[in-house]
Amino acid sequence: MCGIVGYMGEKPAVPILINGLEKLEYRGYDSAGIAVIQDSNLIIEKSVGKLDSLKGRLKDNLTSARAGIGHTRWATHGRPSDVNSHPHQDCSGKFAVVHNGIIENYQELRQQLVDNGHRFVSETDTEVLAHLVEEFYEGDLLQAVFKMLPVIRGSYALVVASAHHPEELVAARQDSPLIIGLDGNNTYLASDIPAILPYTRTTYVLENGEVVSINPQGVNIYNADGTPKNKEVFHVDWDLEAAEKGGYEHFMLKEIHEQPRALRDTLKGRLKDNGQVHLEGVNLTQEEANDLEKIAIIACGTAHYAGMVGKYILEKFLRLPVEDDVASEFRYREPILNKNHTLGLVISQSGETADTLASLREAKKAGATVLAITNVVGSSVARESDHVIYTWAGPEIAVASTKAYVTQVLTQYLLAMYLGKKRGNASWANEMGKKLKLLPDYVKEVLIRLEPEMRRLAGHIVPHEHAFFIGRGLDYPVSLEGALKLKEISYLHAEAYAAGELKHGTLALIEDGTPVIALATQTELFEKMLSNIKEVKARGAWVLALTQEGNTAVAKEADEVLYLPPVPDWLAPIVTVVPLQLLAYYTAVARGCDVDKPRNLAKSVTVE
Ligand code: M6R
Repeated sequence: MCGIVGYMGEKPAVPILINGLEKLEYRGYDSAGIAVIQDSNLIIEKSVGKLDSLKGRLKDNLTSARAGIGHTRWATHGRPSDVNSHPHQDCSGKFAVVHNGIIENYQELRQQLVDNGHRFVSETDTEVLAHLVEEFYEGDLLQAVFKMLPVIRGSYALVVASAHHPEELVAARQDSPLIIGLDGNNTYLASDIPAILPYTRTTYVLENGEVVSINPQGVNIYNADGTPKNKEVFHVDWDLEAAEKGGYEHFMLKEIHEQPRALRDTLKGRLKDNGQVHLEGVNLTQEEANDLEKIAIIACGTAHYAGMVGKYILEKFLRLPVEDDVASEFRYREPILNKNHTLGLVISQSGETADTLASLREAKKAGATVLAITNVVGSSVARESDHVIYTWAGPEIAVASTKAYVTQVLTQYLLAMYLGKKRGNASWANEMGKKLKLLPDYVKEVLIRLEPEMRRLAGHIVPHEHAFFIGRGLDYPVSLEGALKLKEISYLHAEAYAAGELKHGTLALIEDGTPVIALATQTELFEKMLSNIKEVKARGAWVLALTQEGNTAVAKEADEVLYLPPVPDWLAPIVTVVPLQLLAYYTAVARGCDVDKPRNLAKSVTVE
């Protein structure tokens, strides 16, 4: 997972490349580099560490460069180091390449190239690309790239610059995102939209197999077989403000606060006054909906926990069997999907997660109809699915997913209503619609009322090394999500358990003062949760309980109780997760952690 940028035009290239990399640092940040073409020379600067260390190395002598490429890296092949940073070069130093993805056959290619006399300096898979271009080059950069592409196997978004062609950049895409921004004689390339938003909203979203040649006159797009292609322009309507911090100390806090807006936008235009649900990217026929015998939910990380909530909801309301899998298991376990009777429900914020994408393909191969829930328009998951529901959360920059999760859960309620209506089993749907309309306000209320409390309560968690989250029914997946948030940004060991499982082993870990966060929002399981709270209290735990207003019995058992608005049990997962996100956030801040860029993690995991 890396971020790549490119620019050719009339303006100084270096600031544009650096600004673009700043916007893409969420994609990886263990090293960065740029290559610019100045006076027909290819000049490269790169550095291990965050972008600031590259900036520190840049000299003032690159002001006349009007074209270049850049890269921010998250190491896969080869540890983070100066030499493994991109751009990579060939032996002659005349070609430079930036790449996001993995070249799977790089070892055999490297050996062949070494046998042909090429000298390698890095441990990366990417370096073979630079040498391959050199090998195939016969005076035409675009043709050299065309000759290289059939030879490489794997995923890539790549851009090549060459001192032989100061007025050309060549780019290609396969299974890694790449966007082109158009603004008169200025052309921008980037892995993601925020990098080009300061300059333009007119874009091409490249598809697999497309190759692009950029020169001062404009952009030429080709199919993999070299035939020219006319491509539709995509107009971006996100504003730059939406991709920046907006006054908050961290993107994560900003995104937590954006949740009422994200929910409102995700609902917009979808709930009709007559009780119908309009999902613009979904067009299942009544027959297809009626023929469904199973839903298979596939996702990773937080998206998977959103899917676990969906499993409870879809089963409860549709009375249809639902399985959920993490994509990294699904893709290898040869799941049994009844052809034409299974809906593969693929959930991914980025739409580029490698395991999720591979599972999507497996599900399609096995005959499932695939419906994607994703946040990124034009992402691979969106393009490869039969049906798509977009979560209109806007760009999520913090590595820890927050607004994406709540909108992923919300879209599954909408999907339940849509399928229920199609299958003629939706007596509950109108009531659900009414409550969903209130959801943004419930979340807003939680933010206003509970944020100071969570800041205070984080103080109880900070000194500990372990914390436990427990819940039953729909509270269980929310516990998993709460624990994941705490782990990934505060580096505190947190585990979530279905509360009934505690006595089967975990109870042994509870000692004096151990923080236990107990979710008790499910009416039918409330008494059981009280017993579980008593169990941990008896072993010395410090218990923070969350429940709806009115459930006062818990106050006698827990050390602290926070009351949520009186939402129906089935809606609790979206409301309950918000204080857990805040708890993780304030714990991480108090522990001095890099909240938006936790160690060892990247925003989207586009490699296996
Ligand atoms: O982009 P995706 O939704 O496919 O990403 C899936 C996970 O990598 C992601 O949710 C991850 O678990 C988050 N960092 C959790 O906050």
